Amino acid sequence: MEKIKVNSSPPFSFNEENLLEAKRILAMYPEDRSKSALLRLLHIAQKQNNGFCSVGVMDYIADFLKIKPIEVYEVATFYTMYHLKPLGKHVFEFCQTATCATVGVEKIIDYTCNKLGIGIGETTHDGLFSIKTVECLGACGYAPMMQLGEDYVEHLTESKIDELIQNLRNQENG
Ligand code: FES
Repeated sequence: MEKIKVNSSPPFSFNEENLLEAKRILAMYPEDRSKSALLRLLHIAQKQNNGFCSVGVMDYIADFLKIKPIEVYEVATFYTMYHLKPLGKHVFEFCQTATCATVGVEKIIDYTCNKLGIGIGETTHDGLFSIKTVECLGACGYAPMMQLGEDYVEHLTESKIDELIQNLRNQENG
């Protein structure tokens, strides 16, 4: 589990659009069950906060839901879909659980790390790519696989990684 540095984060608040959406979601639950909205609100806040849940984000969500900050920290640090530090624009989240491991995801991860010149949990100097490892993403039949943003990339091979990185770089260069 990553350590959270308390008081190291600027305050956060929802922008107008997200505030409306958060209120809409919150209204779906009974008043004394506001915590049920936590996962969805964290997703919205993370997206607004350049892809990561800072302490400021988590404290704001706790206040918004009228729950204790620790209740938000527990959730945000448990689920790998919440990022606790700034990451690159494209985050390669490799599944490292049994099926993916059996069919060689480790080799694919090593290849990607070498290609990008970074380790797991690191971001390239240009801020474009980060690599994470996560637990089973529920797509075991398509192993080895990873999540990239809101998409799954399946049956990974080294050439697929090459192609993907090249395409993402081309997109950036317009
Ligand atoms: S083990 Fe990788 S998706 Fe399930």
